[in-house]
Amino acid sequence: MFNKSNILPIACDHGAFKMKEYLIGKLKKNGYQIKDMGTYNTDSLDYPDMIHPLAKAINDGKYKFGLIMCGSGNGAQITANKYANVRAGLCWSVEQAKLTRMHNNANICSIPGRFIEFPIAWDILQTFLNTDFEGGRHIRRVEKISELL
Ligand code: RB5
Repeated sequence: MFNKSNILPIACDHGAFKMKEYLIGKLKKNGYQIKDMGTYNTDSLDYPDMIHPLAKAINDGKYKFGLIMCGSGNGAQITANKYANVRAGLCWSVEQAKLTRMHNNANICSIPGRFIEFPIAWDILQTFLNTDFEGGRHIRRVEKISELL
């Protein structure tokens, strides 16, 4: 589970800039500390340029959890999952957010900026941040993600 004393890094491309601004507003209002890693406007750019720095920081242990977004959520998630210590889950519903924390111990939440309503994105993010890894049989499964490479 995420602790409000931790800093949550956030990165997105132009496809999710407006959602990022909305979620940052919600997070700040609710007492979370955030690190805004861009993008900072709606100008078109390449999502890997925005996602790599955040994923690398998670991989290096600088932050516990991260939030990434692009239009579909897929490009951001695929980029982040290139890092060995990153488990980025694509979250387009509250249930998906809950399951990727409980079963996959995901440390990055990837949300599609163009396919869900902003208030749903906020519900998804809160669920992601406030759900614990279930452990048990899921420990073995999560470990096998890298062990069987
Ligand atoms: C940008 O138009 C779009 O391709 C990007 O936001 C994302 O959906 C890629 O996966």
